[in-house]
Amino acid sequence: MIRIRGLNKAFKGSPVLSDVHLDIREGEVVSIIGPSGAGKSTLLRCINLLEVPTSGEITVDGQPVQYKTNAKGKLSLLSQFKVSWLRTSVSMVFQQFHLWPNKTVLQNIIEGPVLVKKIPREEAVAKAEILLEKVGMLGKKLEYPANLSGGQQQRVAIARALAMEPKVILFDEPTSALDPELVHEVLEIMVKLAQEGMTMVVVTHEMNFARNVSDRVLFIENGRIVKEGTPHEMFNHSNARMGSFLKSIHGHTDLKGDLPYESRIQSV
Ligand SMILES: Nc1ncnc2c1ncn2[C@@H]1O[C@H](COP(=O)(O)OP(=O)(O)OP(=O)(O)O)[C@@H](O)[C@H]1O
Ligand SMILES: [Mg+2]
Repeated sequence: MIRIRGLNKAFKGSPVLSDVHLDIREGEVVSIIGPSGAGKSTLLRCINLLEVPTSGEITVDGQPVQYKTNAKGKLSLLSQFKVSWLRTSVSMVFQQFHLWPNKTVLQNIIEGPVLVKKIPREEAVAKAEILLEKVGMLGKKLEYPANLSGGQQQRVAIARALAMEPKVILFDEPTSALDPELVHEVLEIMVKLAQEGMTMVVVTHEMNFARNVSDRVLFIENGRIVKEGTPHEMFNHSNARMGSFLKSIHGHTDLKGDLPYESRIQSV
């Protein structure tokens, strides 16, 4: 679903991502962990057209993302058609929710489908209501974001991401801005999406999510994927650097041992 080859990104000459290669299969849930400044957000932003790579290639479902390298090694722009194709194929959920403050919950959700996908308004509303029901927010459809808790806002943001019927959802620390007691309600929805087979790339500090829900975990440091593997491989045989990173994260102490699949969900 996502294929990244030789991705480099520098800001004013300073490398932030170096030679990243990554393949993500359809239906896979991949967690990305690593210290602050490692380049995790930049990687997601390159996949979602929010940053332009310095070099390298990204494809989503076989379609090149924004720029591709031509025979002379130059990056060339994609057509507007492909940009809008990508906009509807890859959704992103941000740490700070980024809902439109002057629109109601329902308006936030139908905006993309109506304006970008040109879906008739009534149809978009009907679909939005189903999604709001799914994230437990139907009762708040006429509220404005400012009147919602952080957990509620993030659930709306997830419904908004789903409304585009994307092939992939990228999550950038979706629970980091939440009060601890609100984290669970957002994680539960992410677990549900994972179970339904959504392809998800999740930058997270929630090690229980990384360990119990993901198919694969990547540890990024200094712009490179320095270690990747199944949660079992990553958490039971972490290398020295990853071990010290895990120690710096709260809640790391119960990471040893494997859980049978059925108990994964309850343990998030
Ligand atoms: N627009 C920008 N201009 C200049 N430097 C940037 C820009 N965006 C990111 N950087 C730098 O790139 C590096 C990687 O940033 P990035 O946000 O990808 O890290 P991160 O792994 O997501 O960190 P965190 O865990 O703190 O969110 C940092 O050194 C950051 O300062
Ligand atoms: Mg970040």
